[in-house]
Amino acid sequence: QASFVQAPILEPYSKGTDPVDGLPVNYYRLTQKAAMANILPRLSTPILGYNGLFPGPTISLDQGTKAVIRMRNQLPATHALDGHALSTSTHLHGSASLPQYDGYASDITHPGFYKDYHYPNFQPARTLWYHDHGVHFTAMNAYSGLAAQYHMHDPIERQLLPQGRYDVALTVSDAMFASNGALGYDDNSHSGLWGDVILVNGKPWPVMKVQKRVYRFRILNASISRSLRPALSTGDPLVVVGTDGGLVPVAQSVANYRHGGAERYEVLIDFRKYKTGQRIELRNLSNKNNVDYDYTNRIMAFDVTDEPVDTADPTWNRIPTTLVGSETMSLKTTQSVKTRRFRVKRNDTTNLWTINDDSWQDVIASGYKRVIADPALNSVEIWEIENKSGGWFHPLHIHLVDFQVISRNGRAPFAYERGPKDVVYVGEDETVKLLMKFTPHKGVYMMHCHNLPHEDHDMMAQFRVGLKAT
Ligand code: C2O
Ligand code: CU
Repeated sequence: QASFVQAPILEPYSKGTDPVDGLPVNYYRLTQKAAMANILPRLSTPILGYNGLFPGPTISLDQGTKAVIRMRNQLPATHALDGHALSTSTHLHGSASLPQYDGYASDITHPGFYKDYHYPNFQPARTLWYHDHGVHFTAMNAYSGLAAQYHMHDPIERQLLPQGRYDVALTVSDAMFASNGALGYDDNSHSGLWGDVILVNGKPWPVMKVQKRVYRFRILNASISRSLRPALSTGDPLVVVGTDGGLVPVAQSVANYRHGGAERYEVLIDFRKYKTGQRIELRNLSNKNNVDYDYTNRIMAFDVTDEPVDTADPTWNRIPTTLVGSETMSLKTTQSVKTRRFRVKRNDTTNLWTINDDSWQDVIASGYKRVIADPALNSVEIWEIENKSGGWFHPLHIHLVDFQVISRNGRAPFAYERGPKDVVYVGEDETVKLLMKFTPHKGVYMMHCHNLPHEDHDMMAQFRVGLKAT
């Protein structure tokens, strides 16, 4: 079985100070390029990766340190599988970036060119990720490898949760392979891609050696369609301490949880009570309307070792109960000035996915003028999203904001989603209500399904913050 690896941390090539506000700035360089990856034993797989890696390197920095990333596109002119042009746009998912750095779908950089992306990093500690967002080909580009984690720390999180080698990134994705090792892609119905191999950090079902202590895992579901339902083979709980937008107010122990594409959950696993040599599996129980294969029911495994534990590290045996409520979690529904309703479904004539009957084709046809909502800057609103699309689930992502899930089918949200979120799983026949504040930037931002074949065909809309309609 594959041994567990993590993507390398990307070091800044230079550090400086912002001349306007005096904040520290890290400067990074990333190059998108075609490369060969060792994903399967004895075979090489052609991929597209940030710095040629699958997944790309992890960026790790502190809140209050800005980042400037020079993102070079050195990809071939066209994709080997379907010949689409490899012009890309990079989105830092989870960052309240200015619109011009948010990876807008049509803000593409062609092969041979670069763009400097500026990231503010003022938000609370969280697990973000960066991935391609090029219009109409996000699914295939992200699937081919253009995806990576980005960790922002802050002093509270550093005190409460394991750090360093005990703070572990798990980028989970599914894939299918041809017999020569090449990635397969199959989505004729615009409904999704269902791989039969589960990868963690680009390796199939890896095994990680662990000490008898508490570990923190930042689980990103980077699958382009598949949703997961992680659970431990021992039946012991996963302790959710973070969601997309950072720490949850109260830790939640769950036996399993539903984890849609692009969602991040930070969980603690307590290995103290297990025996040396014991193997514990992280399984994947099934969710509705995923296509399961023989081995998609597992994610990875842990082998417990007798390596001595550093008991001076206060987090080695700590499972915090209360963490910290982000501002998003203290929003009250009484602050809301408007409730907007969105219905998501497939248009059976065009075979496109729509939000309130709009698709990204309509946005393009309007010369990018058409917006689906126009909240005022700093206003608080309730957005209700209803899924009447039949047997489909939609992990819906709203750019710019963190939101609170206030209800699911009129009931309380699941225990594990009681934290700041930027993707909400809108399951079959579900209606969710979200509460959010439109801050701190004016501008036009996207919202879309994060089942990426849905996004590409054309389940994406845009909303405008703080600017009047033209
Ligand atoms: Cu993770 Cu608009 O995307
Ligand atoms: Cu969808």
